[in-house]
Amino acid sequence: MGQVVAVASDHAGFALKEEIRRLLEREGYDQLDLGTFDDRSVDYPDFGRTLAEAVGNGQALWGIAVCGTGIGISIAANRVPGVRAALCHDVTTAKLSREHNDANVLALGARVIGPSTAFDCVIAFLNTEFAGGRHAPRVAKLG
Ligand code: RB5
Repeated sequence: MGQVVAVASDHAGFALKEEIRRLLEREGYDQLDLGTFDDRSVDYPDFGRTLAEAVGNGQALWGIAVCGTGIGISIAANRVPGVRAALCHDVTTAKLSREHNDANVLALGARVIGPSTAFDCVIAFLNTEFAGGRHAPRVAKLG
């Protein structure tokens, strides 16, 4: 499997998801777009679960989930076994979610951060390795 990145959002995150898709395209990632596909009102738990299942079953290596705050869709994603979704608002949290928590889903709030910060989070998240070591048993406990 290549570096497939699954993306999903509700209506509040749709515009940012589309911008993130263009960023991923420029960066050369394969994408799995799991919707939503326009800005009509939908329910974030449906999209958080679908995205998390794609990561949990190995269809995608990473997931990027977007809703208005990032809160609802991250809660939904974290209910799927094997998924560690991190709601991030800046590069530091995005980087540390990988280094310390081995997060495999990045959740973003389109009504909280702008596209530029969101892009920085995506790049930091996808380019940071899990540090392992003392963090490994802690992450194992999450399972
Ligand atoms: C939708 O209005 C909004 O509630 C949703 O996008 C999200 O912020 C929920 O956590």
